[in-house]
Amino acid sequence: MKRVITYGTFDLLHYGHINLLRRARKLGDYLIVALSTDEFNKSSKNKVCYFTYKERKQLLESVRYVDLVIPEENWEQKIRDVKEYHIDTFVMGDDWKGKFDYLKEYCEVVYLPRTPEISTTKMKREIGLQS
Ligand code: CTP
Repeated sequence: MKRVITYGTFDLLHYGHINLLRRARKLGDYLIVALSTDEFNKSSKNKVCYFTYKERKQLLESVRYVDLVIPEENWEQKIRDVKEYHIDTFVMGDDWKGKFDYLKEYCEVVYLPRTPEISTTKMKREIGLQS
């Protein structure tokens, strides 16, 4: 069984996220999403989520391409996760291109093209949740 992992915040789940998850799952047989916790988002990504970790996790768990959701609590856990979950392929959108190439020592690293014209930040701005 080929195991794939991806990381992210996935706040206000949108079709760009679904496209990413669908293509990530296609690269293997089992997809793990490491979902940023509220604390990690605030302290390291300077992001305040609209939905809580629990709510974002529940949404992701109801997506047919997602097999398991685990917490992402820091930048350093990736090597440990890859080893612990026997990951074959690490996937991210290409806004992260090159950033995680150090994982090539442990698994395949793939950057998928982002879906154009949609992001949580853009949605928040357009519906007046953010200036
Ligand atoms: N993603 C994508 N296409 C988009 C938006 C996101 O492929 N239009 C991917 C990202 O590249 C990442 C994953 O979805 O691999 C989770 O991204 P996240 O940062 O949570 O979503 P964004 O909508 O980009 O959120 P923000 O605007 O807060 O950065």
